[in-house]
Amino acid sequence: MQQVKDKEQTRIEKLIHSIPKTEIHLHLEGLVSVDTLWYLISRNKLEFDGINTREDLEQQFDFKSLDEFIWFYINILQNAFRTSEDLKCLITDAKTYLSRNNIVYAEIFFAPSKFVQNGLEFAEMMQILHDGAQKLQSEDNIEIKFIIDVSRSYGIENAEQNLALTLEHLNDSIIGIGLGGSESQGPAELFPSVFKKAIDKGLKVVAHAGEDVDSSSIWNSIKFLKAQRIGHGISARDDAKLIEYLQKTGIPLEICPTSNVFTRKFIQRLEDHPIRLFFDSGINVTLNTDDPTLFNIDLVEEYYNMYNHLDFTIEELFQLMKNTLFATFLPQEKKSALWEKTVAAIKRAGYLAP
Ligand code: HPA
Ligand code: ZN
Repeated sequence: MQQVKDKEQTRIEKLIHSIPKTEIHLHLEGLVSVDTLWYLISRNKLEFDGINTREDLEQQFDFKSLDEFIWFYINILQNAFRTSEDLKCLITDAKTYLSRNNIVYAEIFFAPSKFVQNGLEFAEMMQILHDGAQKLQSEDNIEIKFIIDVSRSYGIENAEQNLALTLEHLNDSIIGIGLGGSESQGPAELFPSVFKKAIDKGLKVVAHAGEDVDSSSIWNSIKFLKAQRIGHGISARDDAKLIEYLQKTGIPLEICPTSNVFTRKFIQRLEDHPIRLFFDSGINVTLNTDDPTLFNIDLVEEYYNMYNHLDFTIEELFQLMKNTLFATFLPQEKKSALWEKTVAAIKRAGYLAP
């Protein structure tokens, strides 16, 4: 039986891999390879309690809550980067992750706050992101754009400063701002001034919401921040009015199922994830990994999980891919061109495109 399942899994994952995909909720730091992170901790001679070997490091990828996860993210992961050279490692890791999953376009978060605290120059970081994006485009034909996470973890002044620096050092690879970090400690209501300014300057705006707090956090991100997409949004599950609102407006949810199992707040098992309910309710659902290394998940595997644990048909997986592509901030003609390529790949695989 196991043998049959393994063969089936291999077949479906091969199929998923063969279709060019997009991803819109992915953190640059969270796709670091374990090798890179261990190399930086060792090379920068950093000492963290309980982390003496590479195996110790991997054992840390187990979290009881979002706040515990955020603590690790800031104090170990981001803290391991001490020079702008260190940051360049993430571009190499992005290339590996994106090509491994046949992702041809991605919108990737980068949260500068801790790096600034550790003395990295904002201008240099923005240049590294831009150079990295150009390198990926020319060498691998993969397009990436960045969304700067101004962060809700350090208060309003820090977020304002992040926006000011982003605007000062803006380049073509930076398309917007986001709000990540501790959702319970940094509510959306605190940040409307930052988001309004970003919108006025032509930036796209998104926010993590409903990952760790009830549906009021999602409503507030829409009302106060004018968020164009919601990161996670899973607490909408308990709010029929919000489900109806999301369905009517088509505001995309950036769903990251395995991430939600890791941070535990609303679900304990993939089978209980509301993505199925949202999809069936006509909400604009997209599929993403969030922090692939820390949650030990690849995008291809996450699509397979939807098939295996949440009864998505192959055709419904293609619909998730289509939703994700059309929820990107790409210009309409680029979306259409990419969708044409996707349809061709779906046809080559012997299926009808949605
Ligand atoms: N939520 C909030 N902040 C984050 C996350 C997340 O899932 N991943 C990286 N920073
Ligand atoms: Zn996230």
